Amino acid sequence: MRGIIMAIRHFLTLRDYSRKELEDMLRLASVVKKNQKKYGKALSGKTLLMMFAKPSLRTRLSFEEGMIELGGHAIHYDLSTSPFGKKESPEDTGRIASLYVDCIMARLFEHSDIERLASGSTVPVINGLTNFSHPCQVMADLMTIKEHFGTLKGIKVAYVGDSNNNVTHSLLFGCSIMGLDISIGCPGKKDFMPNPDVVASAKRQAAKNKTAVIVTDDASEAVRGAHVVYTDSWMSYHIPDSEKAERLRALQPYQVNTALMKKANKNAVFMHCLPAERGMEVTADVIDGKQSIVVHQAENRLHFQKGLLVWLLDKYKEKK
Ligand code: CP
Ligand code: NVA
Repeated sequence: MRGIIMAIRHFLTLRDYSRKELEDMLRLASVVKKNQKKYGKALSGKTLLMMFAKPSLRTRLSFEEGMIELGGHAIHYDLSTSPFGKKESPEDTGRIASLYVDCIMARLFEHSDIERLASGSTVPVINGLTNFSHPCQVMADLMTIKEHFGTLKGIKVAYVGDSNNNVTHSLLFGCSIMGLDISIGCPGKKDFMPNPDVVASAKRQAAKNKTAVIVTDDASEAVRGAHVVYTDSWMSYHIPDSEKAERLRALQPYQVNTALMKKANKNAVFMHCLPAERGMEVTADVIDGKQSIVVHQAENRLHFQKGLLVWLLDKYKEKK
């Protein structure tokens, strides 16, 4: 055993965090970004386990590189070679893995599986994407918006496209907690709409901050006056190819193209978590054009997650 755990926090959804905590994380991430050398041994001797049930470029590389830059180590664990969820329960996996490592990051299908993994774990568990949410992505996005506009205050984010979606849910939580306006433009069918509990929770948060949460089936209305126009894949990792034709038909009016960008604020930026398919959710001229900040966004995955790892592992105290 690694000693008695005094306090751990998991990072599964942004809903579990206060505005002050999220602001602290963003501040710390900026400090670590500006002082890379100073933090070069911050996680010396610490190991992160990275469990993947789905493909990844950014999450895989930014977490592994982040641990290297903080003086720690990362283990990549491909769940197609694991008894996880088959012979071994998520709780047992968490219980055992946390005997060996100091932190776990998992990219899974079902959100309930990461909750079960965390319930067995005695070290912090970070959500590296489930079908329900993608909190690391949205915190890196908020960091990017703040760096680009110099503030989060008074910013309106518009998300258009498939909104029954992990990134949409995390944007709803993140924007409403952090005091940004958010509007969602998507087909008015349950399959494409955000989870109603997430919308209700975001509306409650927004009421406290006196900001707005709007869900509409009109893409033009959603982007009107927006400083950020955001979209995500119409074919998320967990969506079967058999749904492609129908999804393309339903989501076409929500494609981000030049005409839609013109309806946003004149200084609006385009954001996408990536991977993107040009010609589907976004046209090439927008994603490769002057308004696009998708590369800045992807870079900040590394910087936000380094801040997050330091923040969480500092909270994880062992009794020696
Ligand atoms: N945005 C994101 O999470 O990318 P990957 O799927 O490449 O990790
Ligand atoms: N919604 C996308 C995000 C990819 C980073 C997916 O789940 O595939």
